[in-house]
Amino acid sequence: MREAMANAVVGDVGYDEDSTVNELERRFANMVGKESAVFVPSGVMANQLAVRVLTSPGDVIIAGRRQHVVSFEMGASARNSSVQFALIDDTKGAVRVEDVLDVIDAEQDHQPHVAMVAIENTHMPSGGTPWELDAVVALRHAIGSLPLHLDGARLFNAAVATKTSVAALSAPATTVMACLSKGLCAPVGSLLAGPANLMQRALVERKRLGGTMRQAGFLAAAGIVALETMIERLHDDHVRARALADAFSGAFPESSFDATSCRTNIVAFDHPRAREIVEDLASKGVLGGTIAPRRVRFVTHRGVSDEDVDFVRDVLAHGKDFSARS
Ligand SMILES: Cc1ncc(COP(=O)(O)O)c(C=O)c1O
Repeated sequence: MREAMANAVVGDVGYDEDSTVNELERRFANMVGKESAVFVPSGVMANQLAVRVLTSPGDVIIAGRRQHVVSFEMGASARNSSVQFALIDDTKGAVRVEDVLDVIDAEQDHQPHVAMVAIENTHMPSGGTPWELDAVVALRHAIGSLPLHLDGARLFNAAVATKTSVAALSAPATTVMACLSKGLCAPVGSLLAGPANLMQRALVERKRLGGTMRQAGFLAAAGIVALETMIERLHDDHVRARALADAFSGAFPESSFDATSCRTNIVAFDHPRAREIVEDLASKGVLGGTIAPRRVRFVTHRGVSDEDVDFVRDVLAHGKDFSARS
């Protein structure tokens, strides 16, 4: 990847002169079956471009209450696009079609205009839960022509876990974003794909948000290597995450964590002493974090080996008892 970056042919992205960025955008658009794609520095920016091009100020976006675009972007959608969210339950990852339709229906009761639905696949806070293809297709059918944005920061994990192509998972969506910088191992970068007319507008919004780079081909070259060589290996991350999930559910039986729910690269569970657990494990060399006051999260990636998993098992087997409240 570093070699590809060093040898990249580059140009000014603002003048559409960077052939490596263009090649990455073309490849991604092809993979997800959309007309065109826009390269951006981060997943947040990709989501924010989608919100900008699919909404007008005062509109409502229907989304799961714990999705990244709702809870982890520092209110960016409100700040950048003057929109609000109608939040629905996403405890298990996928949202229920009836909940979405209820919000849309409420427009008849003097409630604000719904401009789009946003979903997340895999759904990070529930533990990297992949949506089944049927569920995405059913949602699309139910909402008719209403725009659907797919936050696919980990779309390739979803594709690997469900043995479904990214094109099929993206087909029901109007716009789809994916991150190159997570399990796919690129240092920087995400992509937003969709219809050509929307992506033309996204280029303007990218400029407005300061995301139009110059010789970004150095970064895009890493992205191309990521798309070519890092997708299949995601399965290894999933196997290791599941092994860790088994170990965590065994070590914290009071959490009622069902390890079989761990299907991709994220191990997440609720525990009343989540922050203490994270702190204790960090002091022993196992790094994770909390994503809510009582929710622990650990993630596997290319830097986590089978030996590391054994190490975590060992630490947990000899660990502190967190079951009693101190
Ligand atoms: C589901 C989801 N969407 C979007 C993002 C944002 O990506 P980035 O950190 O590249 O801005 C993340 C990051 O963790 C994420 O988990």
